[in-house]
Amino acid sequence: MAEQIPDEVRFLHEMEIGLGAWAWGDRMLWNYGQGYGEEDIAAAFQTSLEAGVHLIDTAEVYGGGRSERYVGKFIKATSRPAQVATKFFPFPWRMRPRAVKRALHRSLERLGLEKVDLYQIHWPFPPVPIETWAEGLAEVVRAGLTRAVGVSNYDKNQMQRAYTLLARYEIPLASNQVEYHLLKRDVEKNGLLARCKELGVRVIAYSPLAKGLLTGKYSPENPPPGVRGRSFAGVLAQLPDLIGLLTEIGQEHDGKMPNQVALNWTICKGTLPIPGAKNADQAAQNAGAGGWRLTPAQVKALDEASDRIAA
Ligand SMILES: NC(=O)c1ccc[n+]([C@@H]2O[C@H](COP(=O)([O-])OP(=O)(O)OC[C@H]3O[C@@H](n4cnc5c(N)ncnc54)[C@H](OP(=O)(O)O)[C@@H]3O)[C@@H](O)[C@H]2O)c1
Repeated sequence: MAEQIPDEVRFLHEMEIGLGAWAWGDRMLWNYGQGYGEEDIAAAFQTSLEAGVHLIDTAEVYGGGRSERYVGKFIKATSRPAQVATKFFPFPWRMRPRAVKRALHRSLERLGLEKVDLYQIHWPFPPVPIETWAEGLAEVVRAGLTRAVGVSNYDKNQMQRAYTLLARYEIPLASNQVEYHLLKRDVEKNGLLARCKELGVRVIAYSPLAKGLLTGKYSPENPPPGVRGRSFAGVLAQLPDLIGLLTEIGQEHDGKMPNQVALNWTICKGTLPIPGAKNADQAAQNAGAGGWRLTPAQVKALDEASDRIAA
């Protein structure tokens, strides 16, 4: 039985799609400054808002704080409402709940905001217990620094522990942000997705385009640049059938692109995808993944094609 969704976290359940800002300022994986820069990401931001995508996901570690600064700058320059999700990174020197509030204060400074909409623990790294960071999340809610709190990369057990501790303070766990796309379906198969539905925790699907692979623009002959190309060498050769199916299904929906079909599949599974966009075109396309639905038969065909790759 699904839990009732508490009012303070309902906003996450009412949106279909968000925008990821990891690549904004990140040079290590995303080559920020090569082929795209501030003008492009500002346009990605504005285009997303205009297309009805209001949730921007960032983190204190993205681009060493640059992503949060850009998000703050772009918010200041627009009159359209935006909702910001950011994250606390459990660095090894952070040991106590109060580290969460301190880190959020610094994020808020970079963002130029008094409050965010969602504050998430980025990873459940040991040895600090899950409950320590959940206490920290409770503190930032009480301090009025965030509207809602969530976690990221938590398994079922870790999520339950965070949920239970927060429940003691009558604070709902709003979300669990996990990697989820057609090439990685662990959360669907290990029961995390189902448990989230039971608890009323919104699953935020990160890297929903498999870091660009599901757009269909990459192949063994044309791999993504840098680190991504090296780490995806194996899977690239297996992609053509899946991309072919995404393209074919897109044709049955007035010519939707493979990336839009791939994102819509994550929406059909009950998750909130937050695709990254480096420019206005990517943002506009990704926004077009919402507002319509694949048929159950199309979802099933995509499930089967993705199973063939995983095998
Ligand atoms: N919580 C976590 O641990 C965690 C981990 C990873 C990500 N995230 C979040 O999830 C967000 C999204 O994940 P992600 O950025 O890793 O991967 P993604 O959304 O799967 O892929 C984003 C990349 O794909 C390409 N792309 C996007 N839209 C496109 C389009 N319409 N047409 C063609 N290419 C397109 C762009 O790169 P190219 O143009 O260079 O191909 C873009 O940077 C991140 O920004 C971040 O907010 C969270």
